Amino acid sequence: MTSTQPFVLRWGIISTGNIARSFVHDLLVDPKTRSVYDVVHKVTAVGSRSLATAEDFVHKYVNGDESIKAYGSYAEVYTDEDVDAIYIGTPHTCHYENALDAIKATKHVLCEKPVTSNAAELRSLLAAAKEQGVFFMEALWTRFQPLAKEVKKIAESGVLGEPVALQADLSLDFKLHELPKTHRILDPYLGGGALLDLGPYPLIWALLALYEHPSNKKSKPSQITGAMLKTPLTGVDRSTSFTVTFAPTSSSTANTLAAQAVLSCNINAAAYQTGVVIRYERGIIVIHAPIYCPRSFTVQYFEEGNPKFVVKEETRRFEYVGNGMHFEADEVARCVRDGRVESELWGHDKSLLEMKIFDEVRRQGDNKFPPGVEKVV
Ligand SMILES: NC(=O)c1ccc[n+]([C@@H]2O[C@H](COP(=O)([O-])OP(=O)(O)OC[C@H]3O[C@@H](n4cnc5c(N)ncnc54)[C@H](OP(=O)(O)O)[C@@H]3O)[C@@H](O)[C@H]2O)c1
Repeated sequence: MTSTQPFVLRWGIISTGNIARSFVHDLLVDPKTRSVYDVVHKVTAVGSRSLATAEDFVHKYVNGDESIKAYGSYAEVYTDEDVDAIYIGTPHTCHYENALDAIKATKHVLCEKPVTSNAAELRSLLAAAKEQGVFFMEALWTRFQPLAKEVKKIAESGVLGEPVALQADLSLDFKLHELPKTHRILDPYLGGGALLDLGPYPLIWALLALYEHPSNKKSKPSQITGAMLKTPLTGVDRSTSFTVTFAPTSSSTANTLAAQAVLSCNINAAAYQTGVVIRYERGIIVIHAPIYCPRSFTVQYFEEGNPKFVVKEETRRFEYVGNGMHFEADEVARCVRDGRVESELWGHDKSLLEMKIFDEVRRQGDNKFPPGVEKVV
């Protein structure tokens, strides 16, 4: 007999900043509003470095539900028996230690992007998660949104031909001169700068459209280049551009994809409307900003043999209640329910590739963290 009751995932929230607020807001959206009937989410504990802040968070953002435990430390959330999965929303350079503590307490983990400061930290976390047999995923929410799934379907249907080139940018004007130098965007000790904060979003579209494309056969990029412009305020990268190239290898059975992604991010410029452009042999997919949670995309189909003429154009729009972080939470719940240790959509291989690309761009941009910031090198 199969159960008709939805699987309930009990969440412990680590930290009470901006993104933790957004995540919890979406967790509280009734899954039925997005036609999800098999899983539901329950926040059971919130941990902050300060008890008063945790209590305030529960009061203001988790409906003031008195059954939710507010803790003045993260450690108490990890050991709470009413918590199945931990959501980590601390600054990048805290992710490694927070995630490791959660894993050691045999909790499942959803960790904000960028998942760690570097690839070595991530490898260490993945080994720990494997040892403990827990689920682990980077919170790259864009990959789980219905729009991303639809883009992938069209892109891989063959109707547009092979991908050739991709451009993507994510920029936000953080008004750097008005920020304290201890703000996480400016502070090198918190992994500040454009690449680690904004870079995951242009990159995720390159990985979806190129790395995941069947012609690539999961081959690693053949070349990565990067250039960084640093702010004199604290030395973190203000503007970063990077390219990720996929090229066929010489083996006849291997990948045939030949395509290049040109990606950029800035922390002192506003986003522009055309967030992502993916160019194919016989058409173009344009994903409209904001590229972390786009609500529409447009496909242009070229005239047969004549790419100068667009013979058909269609725009798809996506409506749902909430901001779109609940889709990644649904994925975590289903994976935990099914005993899986990683997601098929955004698995460990993709987070590792992301961190290796960032390591290489930082190496070429001579972007070093202060000593001790990277816990594993
Ligand atoms: N998915 C997305 O779209 C998205 C968007 C924005 C940010 N993020 C990611 O989420 C993470 C947090 O970003 P945010 O904008 O939420 O930052 P934030 O507003 O500054 O919040 C970070 C929280 O982490 C905790 N924390 C622990 N150690 C800290 C330290 N040394 N300094 C400052 N805070 C510390 C604090 O909570 P307590 O005081 O309660 O302990 C703080 O409120 C980053 O890794 C960022 O890349 C993701």
